[in-house]
Amino acid sequence: MNTATIDRLGALPLQQKSAPMIDPFGRAITYLRVSVTDRCDFRCTYCMAEHMTFLPKKDLLTLEELHRLCSAFIAKGVRKLRLTGGEPLVRKNIMFLVRELGKEIEAGRLDELTLTTNGSQLAKHAAELSDCGVKRINVSLDTLDPAKFHQITRWGDLAKVMEGIDAAQAAGLKIKINAVALKGFNDAEIPDLMRWAHGRGMDLTLIETMPMGEIEEDRTDHYMPLSEMRRQLEKSFTFSDIPYRTGGPARYLEVAETGGRLGLITPMTHNFCESCNRVRLTCTGTLYMCLGQNDAADLRTALRASEDDAYLSQVIDEAIGRKPKGHDFIIDRDHNRPAVARHMSVTGG
Ligand code: 5AD
Ligand code: SF4
Repeated sequence: MNTATIDRLGALPLQQKSAPMIDPFGRAITYLRVSVTDRCDFRCTYCMAEHMTFLPKKDLLTLEELHRLCSAFIAKGVRKLRLTGGEPLVRKNIMFLVRELGKEIEAGRLDELTLTTNGSQLAKHAAELSDCGVKRINVSLDTLDPAKFHQITRWGDLAKVMEGIDAAQAAGLKIKINAVALKGFNDAEIPDLMRWAHGRGMDLTLIETMPMGEIEEDRTDHYMPLSEMRRQLEKSFTFSDIPYRTGGPARYLEVAETGGRLGLITPMTHNFCESCNRVRLTCTGTLYMCLGQNDAADLRTALRASEDDAYLSQVIDEAIGRKPKGHDFIIDRDHNRPAVARHMSVTGG
């Protein structure tokens, strides 16, 4: 694209191009989450329908294009980047992108590169992830019971995930376990899950189920407010609130009995949007400014319009300028339809 075109589109002056991205509510956007594929080798019942329709492969950005988009965000002040999915490790040749982004850490342009994974392919990739500069990963794991694990993931094998966790720890990766709290499914098991995680030096974070995408069941049946979970756990454990943060929405407690940390992600009972520092990019180049809203920006068209990043940068600025104040998630008997139609696997958790 030539300068005349940029002018016609009202491009920002050059010095503003690298200014940090500040949204209309004064929040600096420093954290990008990238869903590298909407596919997954599991079908967790709260996340996906059993027969999901995935994006046609032709709509995906190439890994080179995803890298270019990530670099554009890094140039605009993003310091932390998380790869998610779907399951990021099922994307073919994903280690290419991990390696390229690892170089950004080495160059001091990025503080942290992390990954959210279901652990199924981790045994294969742990050593290389560590080699590329990844230091911490989140592993999603809702139960330690093999039969229940198979029930909730529909397709998963707990033994494989355990192998993955072993390999990741052996490679020196710090692991945080993420569990979705589900009433009547794993609520009674959370103390065991916590003792197990803390016993292995891993934080445990609990997440409230969010109304995203059509699934077979009624989410109201399993919705477990974490305020209630905390009250239950406090019968057996002593918690103290601590200011520890990892750049995400979790708030942490220290557990006196285990010496470990328990994180709580409470999109439903406590709206955490006021300190939101992140935006989400999908594998088709769609930028979502909020997990719980439908507004999005098409970065694929901007990316392909020009080899130069000026126009892309401008489209990103316009999108950040529309970042909403927050989501409006509600789950109760009157609100048991998804707040947004897309599944979590489109934008990542
Ligand atoms: N509500 C809350 N968490 C969800 N996850 C997937 N779908 C949902 C949902 N509807 C979780 C996964 C994983 C993370 C990426 O998001 O279990 O831990
Ligand atoms: Fe896959 Fe994670 Fe969704 Fe489970 S929650 S189906 S592991 S993307």
